[in-house]
Amino acid sequence: MGTKTLCLLLASLLVAYYVYTPVPENIEERWKLMLINAGFRTIEHVAELTEWLGLMHYMEVLMMITSMEYTAPVSDENMTVTDTKFNNVPVRLFIPKKQSSGLRRAVIYIHGGGWCVGGSAMEPYDLLSRWTASKLNAVVVSVEYRLAPKYHFPVQFEDVYTVVKFFLQNSVLAQYGVDPHRICVSGDSAGGNLAAAVAQKLLEDLEVKVKLKIQVLLYPALQTLDLDSPSYRDNENKPILPRSLMVRFWSEYFTTDISLKEAMASNRHVPAESSHLFRLVNWSNLLPEEFKKDHVYVGPKYGSSRFGKKYPGFLDPRAAPLLADDTKLLGLPMTYVLTCQHDVLRDDGLMYVSRLREAGIEVIHDHIEGAIHGVLMFITSPTHLALGHRVANKYIEWLNMNL
Ligand SMILES: *[C@@H]1O[C@H](CO)[C@@H](O)[C@H](O)[C@H]1NC(C)=O
Ligand SMILES: *[C@@H]1O[C@H](CO)[C@@H](O)[C@H](O)[C@H]1NC(C)=O
Repeated sequence: MGTKTLCLLLASLLVAYYVYTPVPENIEERWKLMLINAGFRTIEHVAELTEWLGLMHYMEVLMMITSMEYTAPVSDENMTVTDTKFNNVPVRLFIPKKQSSGLRRAVIYIHGGGWCVGGSAMEPYDLLSRWTASKLNAVVVSVEYRLAPKYHFPVQFEDVYTVVKFFLQNSVLAQYGVDPHRICVSGDSAGGNLAAAVAQKLLEDLEVKVKLKIQVLLYPALQTLDLDSPSYRDNENKPILPRSLMVRFWSEYFTTDISLKEAMASNRHVPAESSHLFRLVNWSNLLPEEFKKDHVYVGPKYGSSRFGKKYPGFLDPRAAPLLADDTKLLGLPMTYVLTCQHDVLRDDGLMYVSRLREAGIEVIHDHIEGAIHGVLMFITSPTHLALGHRVANKYIEWLNMNL
């Protein structure tokens, strides 16, 4: 057997190893998803290896790959697209060319990517914003906040907040012809986290007079305390966000200190002094029965108090909106929450739905069976998923009816 044949055989075996990771049975386009998952797993392994060799930070490798999906701000016959800055924070702006009889609606969009990767220029995000702007004849502001590991919490939050606060000024809204009563903040995954955090913060900011009409949280990450909820357990190895990667994203948001990641991985990172916060994320109380299945709530495990002192960010509601007290939820806008079945973050969304409803907030909740985390990312070739398109349409339709 020649060396080439041997190499080919080994390469095929390696590919097969990636491709044959279990993908849930009840999922449509299963083969496609297996290939997508194989691609993601390969990237994660390459990132691990590169980091282990000391060549690059894990997230820098992921960033390099996602940046290959960046597109220029291209205007067309229907839409003016520009990259600009709002109070020194970059944004990508989508403004429809179609005449509007009155003032337009506006959506401030915050992309996902675990506070570490992604961007408003990534093809799926660019496309989602175009579709939204076009369907609603609305102005879309897609925020380009700074990312970890170079920048940690609260920089990501502050960047987004700066943009929102700048945009919500009456003079700025007037300049873009936006109706101050029909503005929404929306985001997916880490972007949903930032959207929820911003919406809470606006309630206590007396300088902002304009109120959001809606917040949209698409499979958001909302809490740092319990990384062992039923959805974390059930979806530990599901595409495209295994628990290990989510733990890495969370810890990188606060620090590159690997000991926080390790503590989070064993769910022993919360100091006993913060035990009072656990009731805010108690899935035993907050999850509907059908999502608990046969999981048993064992209560919190505590870790060294040094984490809480060194990285107080993970106990801060601006990073973990579920940690806001009930009184801080009063007055939040109408909320659309989307959760996916095969997602470690499913319970974060479900628990916020319960908390918000208890606080009397109007919540519209869509739970998508058979969907993986990040399903809205798969709306461009070659990784189109029919479900990605359906979910995107569903969300944009809802927004069109309600904003
Ligand atoms: C612009 O809008 C028209 C009418 O809705 C549509 O037919 C056309 O495909 C759009 N152009 C682009 C580039 O999207
Ligand atoms: C969580 O809820 C369960 C069931 O209501 C309760 O027994 C338990 O004490 C709660 N634990 C915390 C930490 O809030």
